Amino acid sequence: MLSRWSEGHRDEGRLSGPIVLSIETSCDETAASVLDGSRLLSSCISSQTLIHRRFGGVVPEVASRNHLSKVEPLVTEALEKAHVKVQQIDCVAATRGPGLLTSLLVGYSFGKGLAIGLNRPFIGVNHIEAHLLSPFFRTEYRPERSIGLVVSGGHTLLVLVDGVGKYQVLGGTVDDAAGEAFDKVAKLLGLPYPGGPQIDALAPKGDPGRYDLPRPMVGRQDFNFSFSGIKTAVRYLLPKLEGDYVADVAASFQEAVVDVLVRKTIAAAAELGVGLITVSGGVSCNSRLRQKIGEAVERAGKRVLLAQPALTTDNAAMIGYVAIHRFRENPGTDLALDADPNLTLGNTDVLTASLAMRENNRPKRSVI
Ligand code: KG4
Ligand code: ZN
Repeated sequence: MLSRWSEGHRDEGRLSGPIVLSIETSCDETAASVLDGSRLLSSCISSQTLIHRRFGGVVPEVASRNHLSKVEPLVTEALEKAHVKVQQIDCVAATRGPGLLTSLLVGYSFGKGLAIGLNRPFIGVNHIEAHLLSPFFRTEYRPERSIGLVVSGGHTLLVLVDGVGKYQVLGGTVDDAAGEAFDKVAKLLGLPYPGGPQIDALAPKGDPGRYDLPRPMVGRQDFNFSFSGIKTAVRYLLPKLEGDYVADVAASFQEAVVDVLVRKTIAAAAELGVGLITVSGGVSCNSRLRQKIGEAVERAGKRVLLAQPALTTDNAAMIGYVAIHRFRENPGTDLALDADPNLTLGNTDVLTASLAMRENNRPKRSVI
């Protein structure tokens, strides 16, 4: 019932370190990875997608039980694939939040226990930060001034990045996350969970201009998003349709979401005079988003870094990448910190003057 993906890398040369073992269990993927400095030695993922599919979404209790049985074998597999012995680890990292508490606790406690047993530092990593920085991983670039679009099942954020740990959240969704909207619309169309990849695969067979769906909040001055209105428009459209309309609805819905994401991101980069855009999180795997942001960035004379497809959905390599930066800067330990299901990226109160002005125009939270 579990699907697995794993990548191993054997280098005949010596390890240069630091060696970081990282663990991710914030939602329904159990993942473990080993990094040697910024070299990825292994990345193993055990996905519970097929288990949760019959419920139409992630069931927290089921997810945590599965993490419990998977985390230890997966850590062993990641170490074996990396040809690293457990005593060679310099630091253990695990996702601290945000996510499902009972799922987070499995990887976080396992990581802490291992770090204590090995007498090594433990680093708790913010899952959103890991997505945000993932486009820089395995590239020649270090995290630098950029506008980061993070689009996943739980989050949709536009962030001004000024280097590792220096983030200003410019805006976010006021209702559904982009991935959540993909999953809900897929459900309305009778497609299995998770719906994002299903819609992505179906959309090229449909006409993206067939149904004129709304582009909420594109004309606004702020950098917030709203996706539940597009989902509701699909819900009211469906009973009126006859024949074989699923691919056309999938294509039109995807086009609307991608259009909003691209326009808001380009607007943020233009407004703040930032030349580099990054896109990360599960939805950044979407082929239409990757294509359209590429075209828009070129037209705007900017650059874009897209997370590598294997690093878009939840994985432990991105957790290890953040931990490497933290460990190099300050090899302290987070043993005293608890997992936090509501962890935020922080720094939202460090908005620049112009952004603070925009803040006054932000809409009140609305859920349709
Ligand atoms: O980053 P992620 O694995 O988990 C969270 O941190 O939430 O993102 C999962 C989300 C799901 O909503 C899934 O439907 C969406 O990413 N997703 C996609 C694609 N692949 C995954 N959405 C659109 N197109 C895709 N190709
Ligand atoms: Zn994620």
